[in-house]
Amino acid sequence: MIDLSSLKPSEGVISPAIYSDRDLYQLELERVFGQCWLFLAHESQLPKTGSFVQTYMGEDPVLVVRQKNGAIKAFLNQCRHRGMRICRSDEGTRKAFVCSYHGWAYNLAGDLVDVPQESRAYRKNLEKSRWGATKVPRIVNYKGLIFGTWSEEAPEFIDYLGRMAFYLDPILDRFDIEFVPGASKWVIDCNWKFAAEQFASDMYHTATTHASAGLAFFEDLETASSVSAPAGEGRQFTENGHGSGAWWLPSYGHTVVFGPAVSAWQVSIRDKVFERVGEERALKVFASHNTVFPNFSWLGQGHTMRVWHPRGPEQMEVWAWTFVPKEAPEDVRDAYRKTTQYTFSPAGVYETDDGENWPEIQTVLRGWKARQTAFNMQMGMGFEERNAYGLPGVTNDVLSETAARGFYQRWHDLMVGKRWTEIVEADKERQGE
Ligand code: FES
Ligand SMILES: [Fe+2]
Repeated sequence: MIDLSSLKPSEGVISPAIYSDRDLYQLELERVFGQCWLFLAHESQLPKTGSFVQTYMGEDPVLVVRQKNGAIKAFLNQCRHRGMRICRSDEGTRKAFVCSYHGWAYNLAGDLVDVPQESRAYRKNLEKSRWGATKVPRIVNYKGLIFGTWSEEAPEFIDYLGRMAFYLDPILDRFDIEFVPGASKWVIDCNWKFAAEQFASDMYHTATTHASAGLAFFEDLETASSVSAPAGEGRQFTENGHGSGAWWLPSYGHTVVFGPAVSAWQVSIRDKVFERVGEERALKVFASHNTVFPNFSWLGQGHTMRVWHPRGPEQMEVWAWTFVPKEAPEDVRDAYRKTTQYTFSPAGVYETDDGENWPEIQTVLRGWKARQTAFNMQMGMGFEERNAYGLPGVTNDVLSETAARGFYQRWHDLMVGKRWTEIVEADKERQGE
């Protein structure tokens, strides 16, 4: 295993072994995915009692379930008898979950409530109350987004999110959102960090990587490049390992790719949006790429939210949803849905560009020499500012790698086994507070 002390994220130097080392990956499951707040579901996926979705926390399958009292709980999708998946469906509605191997049954909270032929098989020796599914101890509903953590020591979610809330809230507050039913799910042969870091920090790639995609559906180069690589003012933010790169929209309702129905509807709700999130924020923060550490990302203007599930050091599974305004008429919601499909989905013109870079890097990393050759992550180093441009926290020009360095700093702190109290202190110091 590589020596983690040789990594120096704050100096913008990254060892590519972190994308391919098997031992490091196992440690990552424990120290990153086992310690952080992870996205589980949007509440619109759980409309009634017994609604559930199956998802993953790292590689651990979990069931997220709406309870009778409306609360949401989550538990490991692993039967306590021989470890079979308790529920094999991706989503649905249940009164109880019955394991398909020997039939142990669990209630909506994951408690073991029934065992087939119990009196003959176990006489009176099975204490069912001790053999419920392993519960996710902490769950939070943040404006409809459900997050959970295995850690009892991680900060409260609101503190974990920190000032990243300034960049997330305009998406959640501007109008009530819901997920279009069904996720796009696909596998990419690359390490999950390539995607998570890019969504946190990389506006730089768009002008090159996505130039041809822009040209494919805009006839003139000027529109294509303005959509693929917005010019003008924009800032990048980092805190607590999260990252956001936002660029200022030239005018309210500037939604070129979504077409006239969306533009007209946007304009019709302008006053309400300004009231809810403020005019400045509606124009400055909404168009953005973002990651909440470690693996939950969204594109504000792109209307996609997604999770990068790790699947070994050299593979990830992407789960992507389209979010739409609840109150919008059907043609507007449909325009959002179709547009995310042809931009950011397994067949989307932008998504396929990104999905080509990452596996290519991973293939190069099969090389022994390649794995020892450090990467440069120094863009914009030393030019960070605090509370500039009316934005809170540490920001830099949108073309920088401030958020990538922040992302890997948090990753590094967790991976070397620092306690949450130390990590929080170190972060405050870095923020100059
Ligand atoms: S493994 Fe689930 S009942 Fe046996
Ligand atoms: Fe991209």
